[in-house]
Amino acid sequence: MDLTFAIGGDLPVHRLGFGAMRLTGNRDRLGHDEAIAIARRAVELGVTLIDTADSYDLGANEELLAAALYPYPPELVIATKGGQVNLGAAWIPLGRPEYLRQQAELSLRRLRRDHLDLYQLHRIDPLVPLADQIGALLLLREQGKIRHIGLSEVTVAQLTEARGIAPIAAVQNRYNAADRAADPVLDHCARHGIAFLPWLPIAPAVRRPPTVTVPGATPAQAALAWLLTRSPVVLPIPGTSSLRHLEENMGATGFLSPAGG
Ligand SMILES: NC(=O)c1ccc[n+]([C@@H]2O[C@H](COP(=O)([O-])OP(=O)(O)OC[C@H]3O[C@@H](n4cnc5c(N)ncnc54)[C@H](OP(=O)(O)O)[C@@H]3O)[C@@H](O)[C@H]2O)c1
Repeated sequence: MDLTFAIGGDLPVHRLGFGAMRLTGNRDRLGHDEAIAIARRAVELGVTLIDTADSYDLGANEELLAAALYPYPPELVIATKGGQVNLGAAWIPLGRPEYLRQQAELSLRRLRRDHLDLYQLHRIDPLVPLADQIGALLLLREQGKIRHIGLSEVTVAQLTEARGIAPIAAVQNRYNAADRAADPVLDHCARHGIAFLPWLPIAPAVRRPPTVTVPGATPAQAALAWLLTRSPVVLPIPGTSSLRHLEENMGATGFLSPAGG
């Protein structure tokens, strides 16, 4: 099985990525040095795709990644997001074009990059025309500040509409063996060579009786192996605040079956 996928056709990554969200925001459980060690170990173990967002711990998550990994290895792709605010309780979409442009600039500064490899609209804001939201990202792309545009939590209809405005390289929807509501979106991505980053890839498998089992594999490894087998465009981004779990999760590639399902 090919474990490489080129996002947007020109950004090759190892398909088993890492979601950084859980590295910040809970200092009681995970200290700064430990979080740095987990980010570095992920890269040592072969991760070349890390997912973060401007809203994760109000930018501290992006800063943590820069503190851990800058200067970045050339093959490392950092996917970040903008367009959703979180002040503690609720997540609120905020897709006004000037806000998206400001947030991209702040992500560039925090990540210490001169361009963002993959910039994902965290949520479509229902109060702002989609053309204005995608238009802001297209402008950033034309200015060289974004290499590729991604979307998160979209339907096939929204993805199709967005693709009429700008090239969309990646989609990030909630997806795992126990929650396949995004199957039509994933199938659309597969048909069009768009990367599909399933979020919440393993939590259901480790918290409840797993939907998929693989002999010799832990529930997390079986969940990741199932995702990697599901389609060559699937790039899981499992998250953890534990070095032990990180190492276990990266071991999922040892349990891949040859055929897709
Ligand atoms: N686009 C969006 O709207 C959106 C929303 C949410 C998340 N995300 C992205 O998706 C990434 C992954 O999402 P997620 O962290 O919510 O879900 P996840 O990766 O499915 O699950 C993480 C949870 O599973 C536990 N876990 C991880 N590895 C384990 C293992 N080997 N054994 C047992 N438990 C294990 C973690 O606990 P420990 O910390 O104890 O390991 C944590 O509680 C995030 O980091 C973020 O980048 C995107």
